[in-house]
Amino acid sequence: MDPVQNANVLLCITGGIAAFKSVSLLRLLVKAGARVRVVMTEAATHFVAPMTFEALSGSPVCKDLFHSGGAGGESHIALTEWAGIIVVAPATADTLAKAALGLAPDLLGCLLLAARCPVVMAPAMHTAMYLHPATGANLETLESRGVHLVPVGEGDLATGHGPGRMAEPEEILEAVRGVLSPRDFEGVRLLVTAGPTREPIDPVRHLTNRSSGKMGYAVARAARDRGAQVILVSGPVSLPPPPGVVVERVMTAREMHDAVHARYEEIDVAIMAAAVADYAPRDVSSSKLKKSSTPLTLALDPTPDILASLGRRRLDAGSERPFLVGFAMETEALEARARDKLERKGCDLIVANDISVPGVGFESDTNRVAILSAGGGIERLPLMSKYEVAARLLDLVAAGLGIEGGRGRDARR
Ligand code: C5P
Repeated sequence: MDPVQNANVLLCITGGIAAFKSVSLLRLLVKAGARVRVVMTEAATHFVAPMTFEALSGSPVCKDLFHSGGAGGESHIALTEWAGIIVVAPATADTLAKAALGLAPDLLGCLLLAARCPVVMAPAMHTAMYLHPATGANLETLESRGVHLVPVGEGDLATGHGPGRMAEPEEILEAVRGVLSPRDFEGVRLLVTAGPTREPIDPVRHLTNRSSGKMGYAVARAARDRGAQVILVSGPVSLPPPPGVVVERVMTAREMHDAVHARYEEIDVAIMAAAVADYAPRDVSSSKLKKSSTPLTLALDPTPDILASLGRRRLDAGSERPFLVGFAMETEALEARARDKLERKGCDLIVANDISVPGVGFESDTNRVAILSAGGGIERLPLMSKYEVAARLLDLVAAGLGIEGGRGRDARR
């Protein structure tokens, strides 16, 4: 399950121009299934009207220490007891300074002092303020006390250009997920392949497919969030590299094969989510092929089947490691073909996705899959985000590895 689902998130907004991005953050949290209450400092209300956050969270905004915003006169203590996680975004230089000193002049200050749940802060300020040693010292103090800081970005600010920009809402959501995830993959080395491969025909043309890489990248992020050391072998995609993951970029099926086998000895789990080209042009022309009026025939040779080769290597070694997971995409007889593939390729689990269903497969953010296991089991999952699919898959991998059902910080109070 997505660790954000059903989590009680106290989203605290302080007075910076980046407060407008907190509207998107709130929407992302709600979309991921979190219950969100919003706290705003007096200064924050000058940037975005509380009404916006009330409408999107479905609850009154808490602003005042003495009348905690229409929340039935809820005290700051009641709010901290409710919260599974506190997210301060944006966190201004002033907020960081007060929090580092433990000052409590307002509702937010009291909440941060009373809180026993994890705290995530996304700093946002002008570059000069960010680079000031006082801010640096405050950030260090907060981090040493266990506050999770979401690194600032670099780019255009309200005035000027440089570090100090608040992280994007998606990155903050990711940080929240990381904090709330169970750490049951701590010490596990996991390799995942993602994206398409690109098989050259000549210097300007290639054979490829529509894979976006989203599924494999979601597996990499979810495994990282659960404490795994992740190696992501990625074909050409337009996704940003997930922080905290070792990314190896490859182009062709042969390169992907070699990159995966080079890591074979050091991995505990291999999840092959890439859509590897099955054929590659036999001869790659060194110059651009010329157009002519006669038909062109390309000779294609089969590429190495990476997953099957891992299955064989493991069998030859008489080992149970690495745990092998494949993906299968079919438009018909999905489960039967997936089961056949699982056996042929010698893997432990196979994730079958039916690409004939809308919202499933290549470019989409959601997937509907069934996960088949070598023992004969099958788990059919409803349509869900690719991150959630990854989380469910990792639950089954954990069971296969005999990992204790590690518990995350329970944000569902
Ligand atoms: O045979 P098919 O391509 O449908 O199998 C899909 C699974 O096999 C995926 O896990 C994919 O990453 C893997 N595969 C591979 N090498 C290939 C082709 C597929 O590892 N050449």
